[in-house]
Amino acid sequence: MGTAAEEIRKIAGYGVMAPSGDNCQPWAFRLKGDILEVIDDRTRDTSFYNFRNTASYIAHGALLENIRIASRALGYELTEELFPDGEDGLTIAKIRFSKAHPLDEPLFPFIEIRCTNRFKYNGSPLADETRSALNASVAAVSGAGLLLAEGRAKDIAAKAASSNDRILFEHKGLHDFLFDHIRWSAKEAEAARDGMDIRTLGLDPVQQRLFPLLRSWNLLRVLNSLGLSRMLPLQSYMLCKGSSAMGLVEVRGSGPRAYLSGGSAVQRAWLTATMLGLSFQPMTGILFLLNRLYKDADSIATVHRIVLKKAEALLKEAFSLSPGSTPVMLFRIGPGKPPGVSSLRMPVVLK
Ligand SMILES: Cc1cc2nc3c(=O)[nH]c(=O)nc-3n(C[C@H](O)[C@H](O)[C@H](O)COP(=O)(O)O)c2cc1C
Repeated sequence: MGTAAEEIRKIAGYGVMAPSGDNCQPWAFRLKGDILEVIDDRTRDTSFYNFRNTASYIAHGALLENIRIASRALGYELTEELFPDGEDGLTIAKIRFSKAHPLDEPLFPFIEIRCTNRFKYNGSPLADETRSALNASVAAVSGAGLLLAEGRAKDIAAKAASSNDRILFEHKGLHDFLFDHIRWSAKEAEAARDGMDIRTLGLDPVQQRLFPLLRSWNLLRVLNSLGLSRMLPLQSYMLCKGSSAMGLVEVRGSGPRAYLSGGSAVQRAWLTATMLGLSFQPMTGILFLLNRLYKDADSIATVHRIVLKKAEALLKEAFSLSPGSTPVMLFRIGPGKPPGVSSLRMPVVLK
């Protein structure tokens, strides 16, 4: 067995296998004795999507859930203090580790296997047991709930989710951030160990050749004037429609703590889906943009406000959100062939 610091580094290593928006990995760590501090690195996810840091809080919630699962499996008991410096502070959690008996954690083996699958799924209906397992995994987090849209509701949710892509390719900030986070070759992905490997984007060989052209904002603007950005949502619409279900994780309340819990619930659903052999892809940009529309409408162009209002109405039709709850993540789910290439992570540095 290693020293306490080595063991904690190993557990943090499972933590960082968590998903994060554009694989930004918005975290850093400090180790003080047997206390691990999880720090929010605000320099990492500066995307227009990360409105009021909500995408980062979701990622941190997923990271904390991985740490909880790995700790129990490896024989540690945790004492957690969330936001010890208040919700505005950069310290997300202080975690004290103490030795305990290892517990059977069925989700533990799936931390390393979980990934975002952006390819086409097989849209066969979910089995009742699958629905129950997914619901139970989310319900294990206090205040969190899972809404599943299948059949006609799935098509409606698909339309809402895919309208994000029009805005993504018409908003310079969103466009530039996305293209800055694409790693165009295996060598580049290996060197950066963040961002998204082009091979994980779900593109067919022809699209893989054409996609780099869209990196040029000037060319994209010309293509958009010919209607490209209004056609782009069709691809994600078909991907969502061809999945077994669209899902929405919601959480009671609002603010940083709610997003943190929501992120933990998302991670449990995602690991459970992985355990059940199901693929999973967040399709959630639209939720961040809607949040902006509600709280900072001036940051959204008039034409996009109309797109967002339509998406909002569609989401209301597809899902019955619980009163007082915040929608945390919209995703698609279904049986799919694993993508074969995984997104890499930066090494854990314990300061
Ligand atoms: C808050 C959040 C939002 C995300 N939104 C999207 C999304 O809209 N579309 C998508 O394809 N992936 C999305 N992802 C997935 C990340 O891009 C992915 O987790 C990251 O690139 C690492 O890859 P991995 O999940 O395969 O480990 C999101 C992840 C998080 C945590």
